Amino acid sequence: MKQGHTYQDSQAPIIERIRDLLGRMTLVEKIGQMVQISKDGIQPGEVKQYFIGSVLSAGGGFPADNTPTGWLAMVNGFQAEALETRLGIPLLYGVDAVHGHGNMVGATIFPHQIGLGASRNPDLVRRIGEATAREILATGIHWNFAPVVVSAQDIRWGRTYETYSEDICIASELATAYMLGLQSLPQDFEPAPGQTIYTLATPKHFLGDGGTEWGTSTTGDYQLDQGDRTIGEADVRSLFLPPYQQAVSQGALSIMPSYSSLNGIKMHANSYWLTDVLKGELGFPGLIISDLNAVQQLSDDCYEAVVTAVNAGMDMLMISLDFKGLLNQMRRAVEKEDIPPARVDDAVRRILHVKFALGLFDRPFGDPGLQEAIGSDAHRQLAREAVRESLVLLKNEAETLPISRDLGLLYVAGAKADSTGSQSGGWTVTWQGTNASLQPGTTILEGIRALAGPDTTVEYQPSGEFKGIADVGIVVVGENPYAEGVGDREDLGLSHADIQLIEGMREHSKRLVAILLSGRPMIITDQVPLADAWVAAWLPGTEGGGVADALFGDYPFTGRLAYAWPRSMDQVPRNDGDEALYPLGYGLP
Ligand code: BGC
Repeated sequence: MKQGHTYQDSQAPIIERIRDLLGRMTLVEKIGQMVQISKDGIQPGEVKQYFIGSVLSAGGGFPADNTPTGWLAMVNGFQAEALETRLGIPLLYGVDAVHGHGNMVGATIFPHQIGLGASRNPDLVRRIGEATAREILATGIHWNFAPVVVSAQDIRWGRTYETYSEDICIASELATAYMLGLQSLPQDFEPAPGQTIYTLATPKHFLGDGGTEWGTSTTGDYQLDQGDRTIGEADVRSLFLPPYQQAVSQGALSIMPSYSSLNGIKMHANSYWLTDVLKGELGFPGLIISDLNAVQQLSDDCYEAVVTAVNAGMDMLMISLDFKGLLNQMRRAVEKEDIPPARVDDAVRRILHVKFALGLFDRPFGDPGLQEAIGSDAHRQLAREAVRESLVLLKNEAETLPISRDLGLLYVAGAKADSTGSQSGGWTVTWQGTNASLQPGTTILEGIRALAGPDTTVEYQPSGEFKGIADVGIVVVGENPYAEGVGDREDLGLSHADIQLIEGMREHSKRLVAILLSGRPMIITDQVPLADAWVAAWLPGTEGGGVADALFGDYPFTGRLAYAWPRSMDQVPRNDGDEALYPLGYGLP
């Protein structure tokens, strides 16, 4: 980097460095900082040419060489271009490492948030944040668009599994723990000058994303996701604001607004909540990053959309399409003063503040020395611990669990029993996830085989078509992977095929254990009697050994429901006074 100016002086106070740098920037350079472009929407050379401030990998945004070294090369390539610009302002690369560095093959995939909600263990969640920080930093990435902090108010929402709990206190506590895990400087870490955070967390989606009403979405087939909520301000404050108050007080420096609306006003256009409340009342000092292409939803007219968003308080615009058009409109708007220049300066100041807080000016390339941490034994052990702690034992009769190690014959059924894809859910290599095992790891079946004693014969049939009768049968059923509004589902009953599988396994098992892989409670009331034991395993991620640990009794079941479990769809969304099948906090030992 060129030396000599105050902003390049590692010893100068950050506030001075920012003031100096801002004073040197042209309008085009400032506007470039205010956009974040999907890596698939930008060509080599364009980061440098357009002074782009940030690039992201959205769901499924992996490089052609989807390995840790392939990621590092891609991210460093963008960074090198940014450093070649006139002022050499480093780039900030962002990714949705919502349950580990999920897009990258070989990463450790932790349980999705709903499972961690059942663990009720902030220390565990914090350690997962730290481990995730190491895995992204190893690939040059400093920014994680996580956690989701809201409590889902309707479990038909396809993002329910991205939340911790219906209980706002549990959700806030765990979200803060996760953020601190990502952001806190590790004890043995030597920070860059002025560096105050390790990686950057993004509490999202501000405000009310989990509280929309069924059928109000205007996006595709979505029903709840990106929908609307008619609600008074006092309720907004009590239902949605507390996790943000807590996150801001604990050092949040990036927050993402929601695609959804309050009283018909899109959050991305809502200057009252973004500017007056979040930045003003709560004193949020960081940057507001729009959701992907959310700004374009504000108006068909790009100029109007940009003016509305930036004036509402957006500091950085996340886009995947036509960033050059958007940059032009922004420049026009500032030149015509439809966006006040002071607003641009405020946005850029916030962005630079975050970049300095991350130490990017002095250490822009992440920490490639951490590559060995990716998918390491230590991280996989942590994930396995998290899996064990997230399991909720819903039913256990006839002393079915724990299973003895040497019991003779054990049948395992269900294609999901042998798939890291099914057990990881959405946001795993691809945006929507898949039943295919794209991530290395340990499937539930492999975990069972590893722990069964030498005298136990384990037989596996995905279809459950066995001949004899096993001492114990294990059947794995549940939801197919999905993400966001694609997972908005009116009926949360088990599929016909899953019901048949359970019924079939009943015939072939003296004792039957059902394991449910799902992003939310499902309607199992009629199937509960068919199995002697039921385990809610949520979306445990790559370390299926953690399920086996609890099945064989090496560790106790300690998970407690973070969402009440409805008896029927009539109880969804939940009404006060409804008698759940299993209440919030339920979980057998
Ligand atoms: C999601 C965000 C995510 C972004 C970038 C959007 O579709 O709503 O939560 O951070 O994509 O992948």
